[in-house]
Amino acid sequence: MSNNTFYVTTPIYYVNDKPHIGHAYTTVLADVLARYHRAAGDDVWFLTGTDEHGQKVEKAAAKNGMTPIEQCDSTVVRFQELWKRLGITNDDFIRTTEERHQKIVRAILQDLYDRDLIYKSEYKGYYCVPCERFFTEKDLVDGKLCPDCKREVETIVESNYFFRMSRYQDWLIKYITEHPDFIQPAFRANETLGFLRKPLEDLCISRPKARLSWGIELPFDSEYVCYVWFDALINYISAIGYGVDQARFERYWTSCIHLIGKDILTTHSVYWPTMLHAIGLPMPKTIFAHGWWLTKMMVDKQDGGTECVGTCKMSKSSRPGMHTKVVNPMDMADKYGVDAFRYFLLAAMTPGNDAVFSEEDFLQRFNSDLANDLGNLLSRVVKLSIKNFGGKLPAPPPLQPLEMELLSKAGLAVKQLENELNAMKLDRGIAAVMNVVREANKFLERTAPWTLAKEGKTDRLAAVLYTAAQTLEIVSGLLFPIMPEKMTLLRRSLGLSEEEIVKTDFQSLREFGNGEITRTMVDMPPLFPRILVEKKPEDAASAKPEKQKKQEIKAAKTKDVVVPEGMVTLEQFFRTQLRTAKVLEAERIEGKTRLLHLKVDLGNGDVRSLVAGIAQQYAPEDVIGRTIVVVANLMPAKIAGFESCGMLLAAKSENSLKLVTVDGGSDPGLSVG
Ligand code: MSP
Repeated sequence: MSNNTFYVTTPIYYVNDKPHIGHAYTTVLADVLARYHRAAGDDVWFLTGTDEHGQKVEKAAAKNGMTPIEQCDSTVVRFQELWKRLGITNDDFIRTTEERHQKIVRAILQDLYDRDLIYKSEYKGYYCVPCERFFTEKDLVDGKLCPDCKREVETIVESNYFFRMSRYQDWLIKYITEHPDFIQPAFRANETLGFLRKPLEDLCISRPKARLSWGIELPFDSEYVCYVWFDALINYISAIGYGVDQARFERYWTSCIHLIGKDILTTHSVYWPTMLHAIGLPMPKTIFAHGWWLTKMMVDKQDGGTECVGTCKMSKSSRPGMHTKVVNPMDMADKYGVDAFRYFLLAAMTPGNDAVFSEEDFLQRFNSDLANDLGNLLSRVVKLSIKNFGGKLPAPPPLQPLEMELLSKAGLAVKQLENELNAMKLDRGIAAVMNVVREANKFLERTAPWTLAKEGKTDRLAAVLYTAAQTLEIVSGLLFPIMPEKMTLLRRSLGLSEEEIVKTDFQSLREFGNGEITRTMVDMPPLFPRILVEKKPEDAASAKPEKQKKQEIKAAKTKDVVVPEGMVTLEQFFRTQLRTAKVLEAERIEGKTRLLHLKVDLGNGDVRSLVAGIAQQYAPEDVIGRTIVVVANLMPAKIAGFESCGMLLAAKSENSLKLVTVDGGSDPGLSVG
């Protein structure tokens, strides 16, 4: 057992609706981190739970004809069942309606009130119900929309209680600057520091019961309940015994890593640290904000097909005029298996950046990485070992360079995964491991054990199979925390004992191959049976509606027109969709002097990430608020680690670049042409 403690948390999820892919991703990521640390012998505590107070839950309850607690009790089960299904090994599950949490919230409120860090005052503000957040006038988009979700806010004037958050602005700036690991990835720390350039206001932490009664009552004023975020954030300390079991609290707290999505960065990187500082507590080790799973936005084309016009956050609701696919985590697990789903979530997203989720990509990765590469390797090694040695490999003769090379690559992958994991680049670690799997398959092609068997070269055959089996043992140990069920089966098939199956710490995986071979391999059904992908019927013409057929005939006729070289037809021109877009955010990209990362609003809730080569001519603050022109149906691409969904237009010569902007700074989303 090491002396390290590792405390990992997920956000606590609202119980107004069923869990979605965003919840599943953070929780699987936390689970995998917890499993790696447990394997390393660390003292691990993994916390998840549910956020059960506030207007969102109260409204959902009213809509469903339930009391708020009935709404909580019925929805919390869906989260708990999903975590069970996804193999989540949380040590605790906290619900904010539990007394163990509420009493700590009350004690903290009373203490801050007694020390005049909470005071009463008149409040005028704008409230976004879906986000459960207050904004000031200058925060709003177009004077009425929430800057986060772009929905209309409510105007509110009332007496309320405030936490003296403004007092800690300078302290927080200094803390973030001096602790580069505190907010990760680094560009999120910059984002927070950017937010802190504006004066920090005090935080309204109460709601009058007349407006919202579903919350923790303030201990010093029974007319009010506590603001849901102030209540929720405290779960991270109430659950590990703050104020009750001080020894346990101190054992875990400062090793804490909060995993969150990027949309809840401010609450975690500004509200929470200032609250902790006021309470008199040290900071958690790291707040890590991951990106979003996006889904493709498809529109119908005139020829009856569909076209991808960009991506948007995967959420429950669809967008007007678009087909957007929303993935239900439970369905994915049922359809393709829990481990394959866990693997895809972690292999396909770089923590910190956004990633697009599509079932086609999932199937492609499943068939290539899992069925073809890993599954095949196992089946070849086990079958050949059983056929030629009854499953029990003899001690091999001295290994040859090709064999040594593969084993050293496997040993290197252990180090690579360990490093990438510590840098929170799990996808890169997984890629390194899968690369060794591919190398092992290549090694079998080159050494052709099936021919060695035919030629009776038993010694060489034993050495080749030994090398491949050792490689599989290492690889399966490395992938164990990600796919625990499948790797158990794989390791059992290699003949490992139940005790050896779970021994997957990096140290023992590096020390492979020292003992005598006593194992007997056993055959098993394919680990990841290939999934047949149905081809769409080529000719769907007969099913097309009349109007569409006519359009196609017209389009076919225009095909006869001879288009002079260098010219385009009107139809060809209009295939490029140009739309106005308002720049909401802009930031420089570390190490890229030419590039700015922008967040632009294309109207109708379509907010996109876009990377533009304008950083040498425009500072971020020069472009924020401008209405520009964007190619809206450009295939999304990844540039400098960011999703770029579209391209902005600029007038260029060799030494100048000027943005194309819209006269009078018009509305976003208008078509240009
Ligand atoms: N209750 C608050 C958190 C309080 S923590 C003290 C909350 N709950 S939530 O149910 O809305 O969960 C939001 C979490 O899911 C956030 O971390 C958010 O970023 C994440 N996701 C929601 N949709 C997402 C994607 N499409 N992709 C990835 N994660 C996203 O906020």
